[in-house]
Amino acid sequence: KPYVVGMDIGGTNTVFGVVDSRGNVLATDSVKTQQYDKIEEYVDAVCKKLVPLIQQVGGADKIKGMGVGAPNGNYYNGTIEFAPNLPWKGVIPLASMFEEQLGIPTALTNDANAAAIGEMTYGAARGLKDFIMITLGTGVGSGIVINGQLVYGHDGFAGELGHVVVNRNGRQCGCGRKGCLETYCSATGVTRTAREFLIQRTEPSLLRDIPADEIQSKDVYDAAVKGDKLALDIFEFTGTILGQALADFIAFSSPEAIILFGGLAKSGDYIMKPIQKALDENVLKIYAGKTKLLLSQLKDADAAVLGASALGWEVREN
Ligand code: BGC
Ligand code: NA
Ligand code: ZN
Repeated sequence: KPYVVGMDIGGTNTVFGVVDSRGNVLATDSVKTQQYDKIEEYVDAVCKKLVPLIQQVGGADKIKGMGVGAPNGNYYNGTIEFAPNLPWKGVIPLASMFEEQLGIPTALTNDANAAAIGEMTYGAARGLKDFIMITLGTGVGSGIVINGQLVYGHDGFAGELGHVVVNRNGRQCGCGRKGCLETYCSATGVTRTAREFLIQRTEPSLLRDIPADEIQSKDVYDAAVKGDKLALDIFEFTGTILGQALADFIAFSSPEAIILFGGLAKSGDYIMKPIQKALDENVLKIYAGKTKLLLSQLKDADAAVLGASALGWEVREN
């Protein structure tokens, strides 16, 4: 069978597409994740747009499998469990729901794991056996690869580094705890920092022209490009926290590289410099200078879909 389907479920958008064996994303479409409070309605909405894409390549018979990457996704069970940034609560048997509606064998894993697989197959991690993928989006996710293998842990949830606590009394996290890395270094974390800085500080800033509850991390980037001091400080603050955390993550698995993925990672030197500096200042001496900090090499729009699609080739056939 010549094709697979890849799907990336994000807090904002769900993107899916048909992919060929060389990693070409042939056609994609998307739905707004938050628009569907009921999981059944969500699955219907996705299938309604996905089925025509599958028809374009000759129907479900031509599809080897589907791979789905999702926040709080569990590879062993094909479930999404207690996802803080998704509308559906509890345990959702999403892989089997899709399998039933589409008649295509489906594997599901954590979205950052999918990104790591994509990076190994098509991107910056080709040839690497030990690396950590960090995704910086609505949340912060990670995929940990050790000795060429993605680490799933005994229950399928290994590698939730976005919820490693960096400040015990810090910001409230969607997971119910306080001070997780994600509350500072996700896109939403950057927005929270912007709001805090704007209140705490009095200096002028381009960000003051935007209503506080509308500020996005993209606005912070645009202001930084124009030399806005406050915006630059926001990136420095964010990058420093991330770099400190990465220095500690290196101690878990001694990776050859840490690969950063997501909108924030593309904020260039504004964020990369403070990350690298904090990492160098905090990493144990035995690791110093040994772990490369890389950017994802997967093309934007397709990256997550491509990563998830790689799972589609491995899926068992019924
Ligand atoms: C979730 C992770 C996910 C990450 C990025 C976190 O809030 O707990 O499972 O990988 O967000 O979406
Ligand atoms: Na993970
Ligand atoms: Zn958390």
